[in-house]
Amino acid sequence: MDRNLALEFVRITEAAALASSRHMGRGDEKAADQAAVDAMRKAFNSVRINGTVVIGEGERDEAPMLYIGEKVGQADNDAPHIDIALDPLEGTTICATGGVGAISVIAVAERGNFLHAPDTYMDKIAVGSGARGVIDIDAPPEDNIRKVAKALGKDVSEVTVVILNRTRHEELITRVRALGSRIQLIGDGDVSAAVAAGIPDSGIDILLGTGGAPEGVISAAAMKCLNGDFQGRLKFRNDHERERALRMGVKDLDRAYRLEDLAKGSVMFCATGVTSGPLLKGVRFLPGKKALTQSLVMRSLTGTTRNIETEHCLERKPGGFGSLGW
Ligand code: FBP
Repeated sequence: MDRNLALEFVRITEAAALASSRHMGRGDEKAADQAAVDAMRKAFNSVRINGTVVIGEGERDEAPMLYIGEKVGQADNDAPHIDIALDPLEGTTICATGGVGAISVIAVAERGNFLHAPDTYMDKIAVGSGARGVIDIDAPPEDNIRKVAKALGKDVSEVTVVILNRTRHEELITRVRALGSRIQLIGDGDVSAAVAAGIPDSGIDILLGTGGAPEGVISAAAMKCLNGDFQGRLKFRNDHERERALRMGVKDLDRAYRLEDLAKGSVMFCATGVTSGPLLKGVRFLPGKKALTQSLVMRSLTGTTRNIETEHCLERKPGGFGSLGW
């Protein structure tokens, strides 16, 4: 995977983050998401890639832009053929309420290397490099936490587990509390939380619980770059979701996916903060029509992690960035 593409992808997540951040706290999830989608779709036009969206805004009939199967980029003959897993605004509710940890995110792999995850749920477990190889999605949460604690040289009471605050996680939360580990309950945004588990000083050691399956593939790509670990299993709410998964090529609906099954080969991950969170600072508007963004760009091949702070002169952006509609 061409390393020069990394900076191109940052421009794309920056554009989506800048656009959606204008809607922070305004209570309109749809408008925030639409702004991110429009900006991301437009930004793809200037990148020389033969890109195919494999994880996106939904199937073609339900998403007019960045739908699964959509071709993106300036596809000239020798432009690289790549698959793209994206979420222009991961954490729509977070953005609309001005909460913690909304991001704009893209993960990239060579063609055929991402699991084409259907829009259903996934049981997930994510840890950083210090606990790589010790997790098991089939084991009880207590076992996983004990093993992670041992690998990290911590007491279980010093391990912080991040869990989406949902009623479906009541039993999980009770069991983790009974074990004595610390818990961070989050309202939304389990990509940010999973990736934070891969960063040693983030304060998060392990992500447990059920969230979106597409987000699981994006998180797996990030954990691969961070030399961390991720496992998942699709969790269907109904037969319709099962049928859809089969149509998308999933053969074994009960399969436990290891990191390598979700994101094979060389991958790249890029995220820009929309609202501040455990992973990234959100967009900050400065006097003089400027804005600051923080992005994280990583490649699995080299393990390089770049933290990119960008100052944007909004008035000089092509097309203008003055209004909410950009
Ligand atoms: P959106 O950005 O699509 O709103 O997703 C936010 C999110 O919290 C994800 O991070 C998470 O994987 C999923 O929703 C959890 O789904 P649910 O809200 O149905 O529990």
